[in-house]
Amino acid sequence: MSNVDLSVNLAGVTLKNPVVVASGTFGFGREYGQFYDLSELGGICAKGLTLHRREGNPPPRIAETPMGILNSVGLQNPGVDAFLEEELPFLRQYDLKVIANISGNTPEEYGIMCEKLSAAGVDLIEVNISCPNVKAGGLAYGTRPELAAEVTRVAKAHAGRTPVMVKLSPNVTDITEIARAVEEAGADALSLINTLRGMRIDVNTRRPILKMNTGGLSGPAVLPVAVRMVWEVAQAVKLPILGMGGVSKAEDAAQLMLAGASAVAVGTALFADPYAPIRVRDGLEELCRRQGLSAVSRLTGGVKPW
Ligand SMILES: Cc1cc2nc3c(=O)[nH]c(=O)nc-3n(C[C@H](O)[C@H](O)[C@H](O)COP(=O)(O)O)c2cc1C
Repeated sequence: MSNVDLSVNLAGVTLKNPVVVASGTFGFGREYGQFYDLSELGGICAKGLTLHRREGNPPPRIAETPMGILNSVGLQNPGVDAFLEEELPFLRQYDLKVIANISGNTPEEYGIMCEKLSAAGVDLIEVNISCPNVKAGGLAYGTRPELAAEVTRVAKAHAGRTPVMVKLSPNVTDITEIARAVEEAGADALSLINTLRGMRIDVNTRRPILKMNTGGLSGPAVLPVAVRMVWEVAQAVKLPILGMGGVSKAEDAAQLMLAGASAVAVGTALFADPYAPIRVRDGLEELCRRQGLSAVSRLTGGVKPW
């Protein structure tokens, strides 16, 4: 049987395969680059950037949960300028798309970062309006349609020709409301889902495990929520979707694609298996071959709802 075409299109950007790594779970690729050639990946959503460097939240900031983890890392990063000077040139050695993930305290900060990143030629900008672990630049924008739209408009106005993908929060009653607002404001793509707010308590000390008390839940536990939300959003808007949340094997990725995603990101699964994205890619190819599909993009939106 002939080879399966693994390439996909995300907002005009061609990924040579549909598997990227999720922001905050792969750093800037240096550590994982010791395990394999980063050119194996379709792309990298780099660690979340802010205008100035951030130390992040105090530890403990990771806690295990049944089939997942809670994190309250809080956007620890070296700042956008250090990314452009040190990390982007490193990533440019490889044949993969570079997706810069940004968070701001104000719409203006998102604008400044978009200008810098676009001028430096990143392939896509992922606008994070959904981090549950920081007061500003996070959830506040992602849970109110008018604020989500404002950030999107400012990002688009400053991103030049670089496509803007807005990352949605699952911590809302109706995710399609935010998706529509962001589409109307001019976004080129959507990514979803970010983490679900959660909490774990040590019953002996009566202290929350995380120093921030609450954190964001990710990993296999959130996959069904992600599939449902991608499915809902795909019906509500015309924008291409980068689907994520709990993907650890090809079948998980295929579910997100059938629900409507054009590409998928692997995050928390990397902590158990650094090779997870490569397994997912190879497994998707095998699944397509088994199902007689000539291209992996044929999965997108293929669910047959009852
Ligand atoms: C430790 C950790 C750090 C994260 N940092 C970011 C971040 O900086 N920006 C962002 O948009 N999402 C961040 N996320 C969310 C992931 O990119 C992803 O949306 C979420 O974890 C769901 O995917 P998963 O279940 O495959 O991990 C982070 C997740 C984890 C676990």
